[in-house]
Amino acid sequence: MSAGSFYITTPIFYVNDVPHIGHAYTEVAADVLARWHRQSGDDAWLLTGTDEHGQKILRTAIANGVTPKEWADRLVETAWKPLLQTVNIANDDFIRTTDERHEVNAQKFLQHLHDEGHIYTGEYEGYYCVGCEEYKQTGDLVDGTGDYAGQLVCAIHSKPVELLHEKNYFFKMSAFADRLLALYEENPDFVQPEAARNEVMSFVKRGLSDLSISRSSFDWGIKVPWDESHVVYVWFDALLNYITAAGYGQNDEEFASRWPATHIVGKDILRFHAVIWPAMLMAAGIEVPKQVFGHGWLLVGGEKMSKSKLTGIAPSQITDTFGSDAFRYYFMRAISFGQDGSFSWEDLSARYQSELANGFGNLASRVIAMVVRYCDGTVPAAGAFTADDLAIQATERRVTDAATSFIATLAIHDALASVWQLVDELNGYITLQEPWALAKNPDSRERLDTVLHTAVHGLGTLAVLLSPVIPVATGKLWTALGGDGALADQRVDRAWEWTGGARVSALEPLFPRIESIVEPSDG
Ligand code: MSP
Repeated sequence: MSAGSFYITTPIFYVNDVPHIGHAYTEVAADVLARWHRQSGDDAWLLTGTDEHGQKILRTAIANGVTPKEWADRLVETAWKPLLQTVNIANDDFIRTTDERHEVNAQKFLQHLHDEGHIYTGEYEGYYCVGCEEYKQTGDLVDGTGDYAGQLVCAIHSKPVELLHEKNYFFKMSAFADRLLALYEENPDFVQPEAARNEVMSFVKRGLSDLSISRSSFDWGIKVPWDESHVVYVWFDALLNYITAAGYGQNDEEFASRWPATHIVGKDILRFHAVIWPAMLMAAGIEVPKQVFGHGWLLVGGEKMSKSKLTGIAPSQITDTFGSDAFRYYFMRAISFGQDGSFSWEDLSARYQSELANGFGNLASRVIAMVVRYCDGTVPAAGAFTADDLAIQATERRVTDAATSFIATLAIHDALASVWQLVDELNGYITLQEPWALAKNPDSRERLDTVLHTAVHGLGTLAVLLSPVIPVATGKLWTALGGDGALADQRVDRAWEWTGGARVSALEPLFPRIESIVEPSDG
């Protein structure tokens, strides 16, 4: 991976409610990619944050008897910032759409579009889903059932939509359809994965309407600069976070060094990012994003996990028992990035036990314990290598290269599967070489040293390769191996080149046995 700027973003999260594991999933994926790039010599920058304006937040605040800003402050401090700790996110910035840097520069953007003639006054008459904060076409709606029988409901939220009739400002988005189609054609990686790209292309081919970008029936939002009786439509406001956080409007040098970004988003918000957002940027004369990647949903009972449907599981319900590393590993490994996936406690505990505890953790403890027992903790020098030792060394390079290529296409699950070949091969190697048997015979001393030397080297390579995904456990392993320098400074794309100290130190179990897993009942 060539050195350069790697600016990666998560969506900014609505603060109407607390996070569930679907939100944490997006955060972890973006964090793994950012850490990987940081350890590949790139100037990686991870942005996350919160989306605080709009009717959804306003109504939640009113229902709770506080102002929307008070509500947002409370949720940001008690729920959204703590989420980053819970799943160990190393973000470089956290933007709130109520930050002055965002409000001021979002207004500059809007004024610029207005001055350039991309905005006109019109009337919006149609449906709106407050859950999605989205104007809806009839085709996006379905017949309600139960309490909502006889009404049209949003296909995503299963709740009734509202009929709006407002004088609004419109963005001439329809003018950008051809340029958008050319963008998708000329740059096939712009929207990924392929299914997402096809979906977006056929949507745009059906023709684009202009977009209402202001609301005048409530006032919780950024004021339209030339008409303070309107607030900016919450999605138009929110999308701008990606540039206002990077210095747009106030620090041209910083902006030039970061932008364009790679956006990681759930597939439900793909059109906003792959259609509306690039059209806004084109109108403003700003480069479009590098890539928009739409990941799948975490499903519960075949449906998208959501708080509004009471299927949300709090991330801490998992991390309190399994730890943040296991959370990160499980979701990155078990779900193909870009596809939907179902979470189950059984699958999580099975993978924890077989892959993390038995596969990786045990390997690390056994090898280090043998160096302590048979070599007094000194990492032995190798004698002549056999084909078996050379095969391990070759695997270290092969999986490093494979994982690096997979990460370049955002196939995080494939990168992890590649790295796991080294875990499995090292386990097979130890079983086959039987260092405990070699230790019994003084004539096998050189062979014992070579085997332990090879195994220690393989472990260090694993520590580096897995550090973007399971930073806590690999940090402990790195310390036990006496690796040179900080683990976070090791080049992951050349993981096998790591060097270490002369001695190892004792290692506590990386993934302790979990005696009984009680499935929380309040999820
Ligand atoms: N505020 C908007 C995003 C604005 S970005 C300029 C928003 N917020 S959200 O809080 O509703 O969702 C944020 C992200 O969480 C989205 O990418 C969404 O797809 C993701 N997820 C919400 N539920 C999810 C699952 N059940 N599974 C996976 N991701 C999920 O949309």
